[in-house]
Amino acid sequence: MSAAGCAPSKPLWLLAELTYACPLQCPYCSNPLDFHRYKDELDTETWKRVLREARAMGAAQLGLSGGEPATRQDLEELVAEARRLGFYTNLITSGIGLDVERIERLREAGLDHIQVSFQGSSEEINDHLAGTEAFRHKQAIARAVKAAGYPMVLCFVLHRDNIDSMDAVLTLASELQADYVELATTQYYGWAWANRDRLLPSREQLQRGEAIAHAWQERMKGRMKIYYVVPDYYETRPKACMNGWGKVFLTIAPDGTALPCHSARELPGLSFPNVREHALDWIWSESPGFRRFRGFDWMKEPCRSCDEKEKDFGGCRCQAYLLTGDAENADPVCDKSPHHDRVLAAIEQAAATPAEKPLVFRNPRNAKRISSTTVH
Ligand code: FES
Repeated sequence: MSAAGCAPSKPLWLLAELTYACPLQCPYCSNPLDFHRYKDELDTETWKRVLREARAMGAAQLGLSGGEPATRQDLEELVAEARRLGFYTNLITSGIGLDVERIERLREAGLDHIQVSFQGSSEEINDHLAGTEAFRHKQAIARAVKAAGYPMVLCFVLHRDNIDSMDAVLTLASELQADYVELATTQYYGWAWANRDRLLPSREQLQRGEAIAHAWQERMKGRMKIYYVVPDYYETRPKACMNGWGKVFLTIAPDGTALPCHSARELPGLSFPNVREHALDWIWSESPGFRRFRGFDWMKEPCRSCDEKEKDFGGCRCQAYLLTGDAENADPVCDKSPHHDRVLAAIEQAAATPAEKPLVFRNPRNAKRISSTTVH
């Protein structure tokens, strides 16, 4: 079915990136490299209208993220509106900007779920990667989240510099009495793309990490649920990114730009509408940016005739662009892609990169320095 004729399904998952502001400087942040250019954040009333419009279109899950969403002083008000509308709300936070009282206010406003991220298993690793002192506060917030009656959901982003401490990561999660732990290996977009050679772990590191994660999964059965996500680059089939372009995911960036995924604004030749100027149902159903890779007609070979295309939708458009320069190409993670060698070359290049090479931390100074750099 053509993109033009392919009726869009509902945007079931709304990700509200409330702000790009963040006190941390993680070198794998998925925010755009030029995040510092987007300072004109949506105001409270516009966010509320976006929530109403999305809910009317069938959106059911709301992710509140950033940047650090807790830097928004209207967070409680937005959560209350989302609850009133019937959303299931999930706060994705570093924990900075929260304290016991604020967690209580968010609970009273109707927040359903809080996910706290850690950069590492120790104060030393965590605070180095965060670019600031954060570890002790995160521990306190994780405990406060649990004490407030929420399931404790922890997220660790893993890469070459911390994956060898997998055992310590899971020990920390267990000490904090986590109910769910997401061991998310870095995906290479945004700042992680700029640091890919330094962050991509070796196959041996991954295998060791995976074995430790599996042993913990067995040991903690029924007590702590552990999800381990292998990085794309070591797969031979691509992920069904966003479950298909413009199919269920709708991201609203801090400045109101509506995106089919958090990285889409980095794709050249596409423009995405802003909720300040357009109604959400037009954006979702009619805007050229959302229709661009919807359905299957845009596909080239080998995706077009692939019998797995309805399962993976050709993989990730942003990854195809970053690795091949053309977002219409098959995601090169797929070993049927004629560009799969670029993934293998990236692994080799990372292996040849010394651990001493400095990481580029996410901050306005580095943003200004590298935002004009060609990305592929
Ligand atoms: Fe943009 Fe995958 S991150 S399509």
